[in-house]
Amino acid sequence: MRTPIIAGNWKMNKTIEEAIHIVNEIKNSLIEDVETVVCVPFTSLKEVKKELAGTKLKLGAQNMHWEESGAFTGEISPLMLKEIGVDYVIIGHSERRQYFNETDETVNKKIKAALKHNIIPIVCVGETLEQREANMENEIVKAQIVKAFEDIEAEEMANIVVAYEPIWAIGTGKTATKEEANDMISFIRKTIMDKYDKEISDKIRIQYGGSVKPSNISEIMEQSDIDGALVGGASLKPDEFIKLISF
Ligand code: PGA
Repeated sequence: MRTPIIAGNWKMNKTIEEAIHIVNEIKNSLIEDVETVVCVPFTSLKEVKKELAGTKLKLGAQNMHWEESGAFTGEISPLMLKEIGVDYVIIGHSERRQYFNETDETVNKKIKAALKHNIIPIVCVGETLEQREANMENEIVKAQIVKAFEDIEAEEMANIVVAYEPIWAIGTGKTATKEEANDMISFIRKTIMDKYDKEISDKIRIQYGGSVKPSNISEIMEQSDIDGALVGGASLKPDEFIKLISF
């Protein structure tokens, strides 16, 4: 049995004060057996961590550098996240690939760094609309998965979460159909089985992301291969996020 995991990706939203308010709204509405994560901006991590003490709500960052320290102006290292007590880190979100030159190679380095520091990476993959219209989505996502997990040992795969986020569905209000999402996620599972084995591919948790909201979460979570959701917009509103985790 794979434990469902719902993660909010706040992106570049909310001040520290607003972040504290939101987590206090949601931290007492958690659901047993649903792992819940908030991926907040770097500036709010430390204060949010304090608010989460004694609750099961987990803390995530949205990116990090792969080096532990050095001349990388503006970057945040795994050691810095570890010091705060961050549990998860989103790696390779399409907005980072699109606007900040994130590549499959840097994604791979960041995953290795996260694993080394016991931070669970939420590894994002997904195709553009043009790629889907050209029927290239499987090829594109397979290549992203293979490169992301290059030189990652089988036993490390237990500490990884994958998020399939078709780029055309992010922030557009246009969700993939439940069949499109489940088909791709079972294809990702098969790609992982081909590289590792069935035990690993059966265990790894794979989320869907892209315009997930209270009105579509149940049908998404009913799918055989989908283990959770990575949620942008709807995670910023406590009442909506509470509805999502109680799918
Ligand atoms: P969205 O974002 O839910 O606003 O579409 C999802 C994401 O980018 O992780």
